[in-house]
Amino acid sequence: MIITNLSLTNYRGYKKCDVSFGKNVNFFIGNNGSGKTNLLEAIYYLALAKSYKTADSSTVKSETEFARIIAKIKSDKEFTSKIIISKIGKKISINNQEIDKLSDYIGKVKILAFLPEDMDLIKGVPKNRRYFIDMIIGQIDKNYLVELGNYKNILKQRNELLKILVENKSKDYTLLDIYTEQLARSAEIIIAIRKSFIDKVKIELEQMYHYLAANSKRISFIYRPVIENEILSQLKQKYQKDLFMMTTNLGPHRDDYDFFIDEVNAKDFASQGEQRVIILAIILSIANIIIKEKNIKPILLFDDVFSELDYLRQNQLVKYLNSTDIQSIITTTNIKDINTSFLNNSKTFNVKNHLIKEGKN
Ligand SMILES: Nc1ncnc2c1ncn2[C@@H]1O[C@H](COP(=O)(O)OP(=O)(O)O)[C@@H](O)[C@H]1O
Ligand SMILES: [Mg+2]
Repeated sequence: MIITNLSLTNYRGYKKCDVSFGKNVNFFIGNNGSGKTNLLEAIYYLALAKSYKTADSSTVKSETEFARIIAKIKSDKEFTSKIIISKIGKKISINNQEIDKLSDYIGKVKILAFLPEDMDLIKGVPKNRRYFIDMIIGQIDKNYLVELGNYKNILKQRNELLKILVENKSKDYTLLDIYTEQLARSAEIIIAIRKSFIDKVKIELEQMYHYLAANSKRISFIYRPVIENEILSQLKQKYQKDLFMMTTNLGPHRDDYDFFIDEVNAKDFASQGEQRVIILAIILSIANIIIKEKNIKPILLFDDVFSELDYLRQNQLVKYLNSTDIQSIITTTNIKDINTSFLNNSKTFNVKNHLIKEGKN
């Protein structure tokens, strides 16, 4: 899938902007505050019908009433996607046919994004890792997000019930038993999907990390479920603790993941640059899995990806992207360190004061 054209009106700092993308690597080069992230965010918005940064209203250019994003997308078919964002809501259409349900739209434009925010993946709290990985699994398996929603509902009900039982000093656990059984069933499904995801991504990730890092270190991606077997009986054993704390202590909502480089946990020791290589390797591995399993090439977005990457890793990334037929969109302040022999499939744009021109200057 590729985005061929993008037209923005009153989106963030852009009054009016039209871009024709190349089908391989696209560089958007500009100084801080020039509008690079805003451009990438618009493409993200196009895919997920929301910003990853702020509420809809902040994406509308200040002192204007609405923002418009129009894009031409080419996959099996060609289609035009249009989103109008205003203070009272958004309107989405494909080929001028309005879409009523967001869930019918999301997924039509497939992207995988590397955002500076994702740097939390390795060293941040487990919640960030779970969220990042949940979103990625959701890209491969739509049922997973449905099951996750189901799990979260049961969990919420169970936690509310725990509070009520404590407040009423009740020893009647009939309803708690029912919720616990439902939670255990859902937990089992989620844990199984997470496990099979890790198994699937492992080999791909090892190869991709090896390529990007350009060294002989080995990456291991490890899933750490807090409960794995005999889920129901383990949950039942924790009734008293759950009641005491008025929350559910065990279950996939507490799971975590670890990345090891050779024998070292990246959480404790990886530098900013090393963490970046791990995250990039994950994103590129997932792209390959989506291509294999779904036969769709997602559009790759990389915001400010070169900062903290050394010369060698910047070049490995571009060399890789240049050699694939996946479309990528990269923002950066410069590409002076990139070997020109890796740029033969790329298109370059200059971004200045929210104006975009083809070419480097
Ligand atoms: N709703 C908005 N209206 C007008 N300008 C905005 C809006 N949102 C963000 N901006 C402008 O966008 C600029 C940041 O652009 P950004 O794309 O993040 O820069 P960079 O090129 O460094 O990634 C800010 O300086 C801000 O003035
Ligand atoms: Mg930026």
